[in-house]
Amino acid sequence: SVDPIQLMKQEVAKAAAARVHSGSIVGLGSGSTAALMIQYLGDRLQSGELKDIKGVPTSFQSSVLAKQYGIPLVTLDEIEYIDIAIDGADEVDPQHNLIKGGGAAHTREKIVDALAKEFIVVVDSSKLVDRLGTTFKLPVEVIPMAITPVARAIEKLGGKPELRMGVKKAGPVITDQGNMVLDVKFDSIDNPAEMEKTINNIPGVLENGLFVGLTDLVLVGEVKDGQPIVR
Ligand code: A5P
Repeated sequence: SVDPIQLMKQEVAKAAAARVHSGSIVGLGSGSTAALMIQYLGDRLQSGELKDIKGVPTSFQSSVLAKQYGIPLVTLDEIEYIDIAIDGADEVDPQHNLIKGGGAAHTREKIVDALAKEFIVVVDSSKLVDRLGTTFKLPVEVIPMAITPVARAIEKLGGKPELRMGVKKAGPVITDQGNMVLDVKFDSIDNPAEMEKTINNIPGVLENGLFVGLTDLVLVGEVKDGQPIVR
């Protein structure tokens, strides 16, 4: 039997891919849900239903997948706008603010997602929270030489930072930009907009995973009566 979370991810990824029109420039998100979306975009190109799209990758992962599924890529230097970006999230609050960066890709994701005329978030229902930071630690990308002072500054803000370690690698996770990630536990993030700015203002921080006021639409995958649906 298939994992229900996987079914929800497939359903929501398909629904998002269906919203892309021919001729569009598409921001390609990172993570497992966005990966499925890239695959469905590739299917639509293959079948001829969708024509002439260009992708802007948000990570090494999404550029590899785009090449694998036949989606031509462009850089931000070659385009003037992004029509639509589709990306996953680790937490979504009732105002549609997000925590991202579970895959350490939030810096490029924020650049691309923020440039899109329409930013669509694709999640399974397990990602919905009342308040950000309650179930997921906030990822913060830090330039390696500044890791200790940044960790201390974050502790002064009431956070508990942990250096993200590799799973099949000895030592810390290294981002696509060559930096490290602190995963920060806060009791609760009461004001995401203020917290986003405060953390990014610490010297040595490149970007944190709070995405505030960027989301245009959230597609949520759910299982109802044993069937995956999108809300
Ligand atoms: C990558 O850094 C993240 O922002 C992902 O978009 C996020 O972790 C969601 O990933 P999943 O779709 O795999 O849960």
